[in-house]
Amino acid sequence: MRNKRNSTIALVLGTIACLVGGWLLLRGATSLTTFPLNTLSPQGRKADIIYDLVVPVFAIAGLVFILVEVGVVWMAYRFRRNEEDREGEGEPVQVHGNTGLEIGWTIVPALLLAVIAVFNANAILQMDDVREDAIDVTVIGQQWWWEYRYDTDSDGAVDIITASQLVMPAGRDVKLAIQSRDVIHSFWIPALNGKKDAVPGRTHDLVLEAAEPGIYEGQCTEFCGLSHGVMRMQVKVLDQADYDEWVDIMTTPPEQPTDDAAVAGQELFVQQCSTCHQVNGLEPGAQAPYEYAEMPNPNYGEDVGSTLLSQNAPNLTHLMMRDTFAGSLLDLYEDSDVNAIDSGVGLGSVVPEGEPNYNNLKRWLRNPESIKPMDPANNQGMPNLGLSEAQIDELVAYLVTLK
Ligand code: CUA
Repeated sequence: MRNKRNSTIALVLGTIACLVGGWLLLRGATSLTTFPLNTLSPQGRKADIIYDLVVPVFAIAGLVFILVEVGVVWMAYRFRRNEEDREGEGEPVQVHGNTGLEIGWTIVPALLLAVIAVFNANAILQMDDVREDAIDVTVIGQQWWWEYRYDTDSDGAVDIITASQLVMPAGRDVKLAIQSRDVIHSFWIPALNGKKDAVPGRTHDLVLEAAEPGIYEGQCTEFCGLSHGVMRMQVKVLDQADYDEWVDIMTTPPEQPTDDAAVAGQELFVQQCSTCHQVNGLEPGAQAPYEYAEMPNPNYGEDVGSTLLSQNAPNLTHLMMRDTFAGSLLDLYEDSDVNAIDSGVGLGSVVPEGEPNYNNLKRWLRNPESIKPMDPANNQGMPNLGLSEAQIDELVAYLVTLK
């Protein structure tokens, strides 16, 4: 009797667990706002291909799972030892071998897999297809942020370098050439496509396309050191006209600072920051007044490594054109909630709106390691420069002019 009651309890608990799990899965599948890293809420044509493959395969697998589980439970019940046999009349009747069944459960799965393979191969071929008017962007993984390099006029020279946020127009293919400067990272925007590893010395292609403007979240998915867990990325999708405006702004030097604090901040930036961070046209050790060089900056050659002035640090020329900084970990603007699609502030606007988030910028300059685990002694992340509060104020006054 006790065994019977226990198995009934197990059956009921198991059923409840399955229902709750299924409900959570379905709930997640319907929302990108609550779950921004939701691969089951496709927002572009590449993600649609994956989704259209996953759903039927999952349905077939689910059906097989249910049939097998029902079979197991039914057989356990149907062929259990009878109550009358309890006293131990030897073993139950042994049944062995049923040729028809065995051939059946070998052939049916093989056929199922063969059918799925056809759709699978078709989907893989579709993933590689790129439209003619695709925009080329080189993506470089780095401990612990992403750099994006655009060749907007397809002349082979880089003319925009930015970080944290990849900006692209809605409805256009963007062909990413994914690389890494240090260790293996993995680039993943779940709403737009699958994952692609960034491997040092190699280039991996990935095509992104988003149907609608919005901000789409991503997360590095290959363990890459101390701050792997907070190595985020965002794709900001604008409509084509806004994207063109963005390109215009990004290829125009920001205005020179005029107020005293910002001018002092620029001076400080050249002394303290410019050996790693580049602001196009500012050269480390240059003398004031600082003149902006013509774009594209001659320091951006084809060679990513040695000729680049910004050494392993984000290019800050148009810092304030991003909604987030520090590897997309911190908001650059007050009241900014770019962590969800359709969330309002900054969304879809070429230049993010609102007050700069002075608090975040200052916290970052005060002690970057306290916000993001880093190892600057080994060239991984930003060092604490031991700046005074007055210096921090000046630097921030300069940084917020970089639009
Ligand atoms: Cu980069 Cu994990």
